[in-house]
Order: sequence, then C-alpha cells, then structure tokens
Amino acid sequence: MGFRAGFVLLAFAAASRRADAGASVDFARDVQPIFEQRCVVCHGSKQQLSGLRLDDRDSAGRVIKAGHAAESRLIEMVKGASGKLMPPVGARLSDEQIATLTRWIDDGATWPATASAARHWAWEPVTHPDGDIDRFVRARLEKEHIAPSAEADRATLLRRASLDITGLPPTPQETAEFLADTRPDAWARQVDRLLASPHYGEKWARYWLDLAHYADSDGFEKDLVRPWAWRYRDWVIDALNRDLPYDRFVSLQIAGDEVPGATAEDRIATGFYRQTLTNREAGWTGARPASISWWTVWARPARRFWGLRCAARNATTINSIP
Ligand code: HEC
Repeated sequence: MGFRAGFVLLAFAAASRRADAGASVDFARDVQPIFEQRCVVCHGSKQQLSGLRLDDRDSAGRVIKAGHAAESRLIEMVKGASGKLMPPVGARLSDEQIATLTRWIDDGATWPATASAARHWAWEPVTHPDGDIDRFVRARLEKEHIAPSAEADRATLLRRASLDITGLPPTPQETAEFLADTRPDAWARQVDRLLASPHYGEKWARYWLDLAHYADSDGFEKDLVRPWAWRYRDWVIDALNRDLPYDRFVSLQIAGDEVPGATAEDRIATGFYRQTLTNREAGWTGARPASISWWTVWARPARRFWGLRCAARNATTINSIP
C-alpha cells in the first residue's frame, strides 16, 4: 500500500471514529470503572469468586460473548435474570451502567491490551477506606478472602455502638433522634454522647472487676455478704468515667493509702486487695490468712498489672510468663 493510500485509509478511519464517538463505549473510560468499583473486590487479584476475574481480559472472556450481550452471562448476572444478581452486595448496577455494559458487548467487547489486568499498582489511584481502623479491618478481610459487607443502616449502627460502648441498646427515642439528625457530624455526636454516658464506666469496669475478682460476698462456706464491697466497684466505674490516667488507676489500687494526702476515695481504691475469697470457718487459725494475704498482696498485682503467673500452693498447673 502506497503512502497516500495508507494516509487516506487512516484519515478515513479517524473520521469515522469521530463520527460515532458520541455513541460508542470506551472500555477504559466507561466499562473498566464499573468493574473496578463494583466487581473486582470479588473478581480481581485478591479473590476470584467463581474463578472469575474482571480485571483480566482472558478470564472475563468466559462470561462475555462479544457481539451478543443478550447471550453473555455477565449481562444475565448484572440483570439478575437467572435469579442470581451481581454484585450480590450493595446497590444494583444502575440501568445506565447495565446499558453501557450491554452496548460495549454488542459493539464487540473491545478490551485494549493496555487496559489489562497487569496494570501496575503504582499506577492505581490512591484510595483509602474511611479511617485508620478500617484499614486494619480491611487488611484482615483481604487476608481471609472475605468481601466487606455493605454499610449497615443507621438504626443498626446506633444499636451496635450503644451496646459496644454502654452495654445497653439505644432507647426508641435515641434512635428516632439519630435518624432525624441530618447534620454531617451526626454519627460523631452519637459516639461522643455514648462515651459521656455514665453507663460507659459501668460497661467497661466489668472487665477490670472480673480481673480483680470483684465479689460482694466471701465466696466460701457461709459466704457472708460484704456490705461495703460496692464502694470499690463504684470507684472503678467512676475512675473510667472521669478518664483517670492508667498509671494513676494502677498506683491508687496498689497503694492508694500511701499517696501523699490520701483521700478516702484513694483508700477505697485499695479495695482491690480485698477482692479475694475469705474463709471464716470455725477453727480457722491466724497462720493461713497471713499466707493468703501475702498471695493477695503480691501475686494478684503481678498477674493483673505485669502479666506474670505464679504457682500457688493450691493452684494446679500454671507456672509461666505469658
Ligand atoms: C461480594 C462479592 C461479589 C461481587 C462484588 C461481585 N460478584 Fe460476581 N460472583 C460472586 C460470587 C460469590 C459468584 C458465584 C455465585 C454463584 O455461583 O452462586 C459470582 C459469580 C459471578 C458470575 C458468574 C460466573 C460463572 O462462572 O458463571 C458473573 C458473570 C459475575 N459474578 C459477574 C459479576 C459482576 C459483573 C460484578 C460487578 C458488577 C460482580 N460479579 C460483583 C461474588 C461477587
């Protein structure tokens, strides 16, 4: 072919491409973004559900019949025509997106090699999930090949946050108020409200009180009640509610009576030591309580604060540093 003829052909091709540019579907511009946003989380490099990749021309070819959208499994799936709908989570594809995919396939499903799966990560746009914690959660989900769930509705979110932070479900009124709150920081306000709730300390003190073996009775034989045990319990709850720094929280429980200018509250913190089984059996001698108090005074803080474990006389197995 002579230079001229070649030139004329090229010019003609360019002209005809321009003529239908408005109507034609461009893979990289119109189709690939749909796959990337809605499909490759399950059909991409990380996981290939149903063995399918939609970031890879060859793999995708299995569900695409070029020139025949109506016979392509991909179109059947995004329409939900066979009872199964893709994507299975989140909103369905819009009619416009389905029309784009349909036209692209009917037009011959052109998939330029330059737009193939092997796009280097360095060329991908930087995307971040919502926050720092989400990034860790996402990393783990990817490791386990689990696709993230769609975001829960607002009532569910509030219920989860309330149970997590206060241990209580939201009241119907709290839910209604949150649903009606359209301010952009409505969610942050709810979290702040829950953190400020006195129930925050009640919920989270439980974990510490369990470690301290909190009880309001002796825990043995006659199991006599300890009518003032709640004062230590309330001290822990209050310490959490007023955000007492951890070093202070620990030192007051170990030696609240020794701190300069110790208040009654500081002394109550040492109720930590009192949280042990007490034997008031008849015939109980004075010798044993001494050993018990040694155990209480040294072993308990060692376990709770420094993570050490010791072998006690009656304890069965443990003799390790975890
Ligand atoms: C949350 C994960 C997930 C997302 C997102 C997702 N899929 Fe799927 N896809 C699946 C699973 C799971 C199957 C297997 C379903 C079955 O066979 O029951 C599947 C199967 C398919 C199949 C059938 C494959 C075959 O072997 O016949 C097609 C086609 C498909 N998906 C297309 C898409 C398209 C197009 C999108 C985006 C618009 C998409 N999927 C998004 C999970 C997903």
